[in-house]
This record gives sequence, C-alpha cells and structure tokens, in this order.
Amino acid sequence: MTREDPVLEAARLLRGRTDAVALTGAGISVESGIPAFRGSQGLWGKYDPMEYATLGAFLRSPEKVWRMLSEMVALCGDAAPNAAHRGLADLEGRGILRAVITQNVDGLHQAAGTRNVIEYHGNMEALVCISCWRRYPTRERWVDGQAPACDCGEILKPDVVLFGEPIPWLAQERAEEEARTCGVLLVIGTSAEVSPACDIPRIAKKAGAVVVEINPEETDLTRTVVSLHIPGSASEVMGQLIIMLRDPGDDFPPHLKSFNIP
Ligand code: APR
Repeated sequence: MTREDPVLEAARLLRGRTDAVALTGAGISVESGIPAFRGSQGLWGKYDPMEYATLGAFLRSPEKVWRMLSEMVALCGDAAPNAAHRGLADLEGRGILRAVITQNVDGLHQAAGTRNVIEYHGNMEALVCISCWRRYPTRERWVDGQAPACDCGEILKPDVVLFGEPIPWLAQERAEEEARTCGVLLVIGTSAEVSPACDIPRIAKKAGAVVVEINPEETDLTRTVVSLHIPGSASEVMGQLIIMLRDPGDDFPPHLKSFNIP
C-alpha cells in the first residue's frame, strides 16, 4: 500500500485543530541565510563549541568568544523570515497553532508576525552585563569585531543560553506545559542533539500528541517519537502545507503563489 503524501497527511492532521504547537531549530532559518550549527556547513565546523560557546569559555576569554558571537549577530541582523516562519505565523493567525517554542536566537518568528514565541535559548537582540546585570539593546552597543562593554566596564554577553547555562526557567516551564497539552507537535529543523530541548518531543509524545517532523534528514527523533516524518526543506514543506490548509476562495498570499499545488 503506497503511503499517502506526508504533507497531505499533515494537512489532514492540522485541519480544524486549535492545539498544535511547533518546536523549531536552526534548520528553519537556513533558508534565511543563517547557517545551522551541525552538518557540513554548520557553524560548529568553524568554531569548536567547547572553545567558543560555553559559559566557562566566555568567562575565561570573552574577547575570543565574541569573535564567534559577532558573526552570529551580523548573520541574524541581516536575515529576514522565510516562507516557513511566515507559514507558522499564518497557522497561528488561523487559530490552528498555539505557540512556537524556538531554540533559535534570531528573532525571525516574531519578525514573521508570530505572537506566542517561547525563546528557549534566549535572544541575540539584548546584551547583559555579567557583573551588574544591566541590559542594553545589541544594536546600541555592538560593533563588529569588538567585545561590547557595560558602563561599569565589564564585558557584555548576549542574552542567549551558552552551553553550561540553565534554560530560562519561565521558558522551560511554558515549553513543557505546551508540550504536555498539545495535540500535534510540529518539529521543524532541529537535529534534536541538545538537551533539554530534545526532550520536548518526548514529553509531547508521552502525553499523547502526534509528532510531525519536517527535516530533509532523519534524526534521533525520527525512529523514536515521530509519527510522520516529512523529508523536505522547511520553507518548501510549510509553503505546501499552508496552501493545502487554505479554504476554497481564500486569497493566496503573494509569497505562496510560486508553489505549484494541483
Ligand atoms: N529545512 C529544514 N531543516 C533543515 C534545513 C532546512 N532547509 N536545513 C537543515 N535542516 C536540519 C538539519 O538536517 C539538522 O537536522 O536542521 C537541523 C539543524 O540541526 P542543528 O544544526 O544541530 O541545530 P539545532 O538542532 O537547532 O541545535 C540545537 O544546539 O548548538 C546549539 O544552542 C544551539 O540552539 C542550538 C542547539
């Protein structure tokens, strides 16, 4: 028996729902020009995360770590949301999607118009002083190639979660609550190699949700908690999904007119 088109199956699962939630990773922003962390083109191929992305490394040599962080600030600053980010905002606007839990620090979900975004690993748009805890908008203090400083003289750290740092407790509480109570969890563009974020699909599955994975590659989740794996790029698959969920007579947003759906 041939398996039905997985995108059609996902559209059937989502139609009429109000309790879908999404978990996103770096893969959703690859088509916005921000490289993922792992894989052949990944950022960790250029910067060893143990030397450039742990709290210990930052405290030992903040200038060095800011070399990597500066590249991320520049990449995030130039990026714009793609059809996948906009597709999730569309699902939220239609009342199908309740929340987006993101591991990304690029702010592209909010830029696409999604309102309920849980930033599990923080956000690049703010800098925090690790001595006096004063906060500054990144764009006000950051100069490419330099380690930005606080008025107290201490070096500033972006408000992101480095390895060895705890997840912001409110983000963790909210994310786990969404996972425990959702009906469908869309897992988009994550290798699920980093915990505790990789536990979110397991919490959802255990609570009875259907886990749908959108990723050109299989991950550890595919063989364990995923009910429906859709092998494709986030923007292509989300674009098709949004079109399939449109009601006859619904107008087509311009960025979806390119998708040739029968
Ligand atoms: N569309 C969908 N998925 C994609 C695309 C795409 N266009 N391109 C790549 N992917 C998939 C890859 O196959 C991979 O499984 O996205 C995933 C990216 O995985 P990682 O680079 O490991 O990123 P992520 O899972 O978000 O990393 C988790 O690790 O480094 C830390 O804090 C960092 O938040 C990050 C966390």
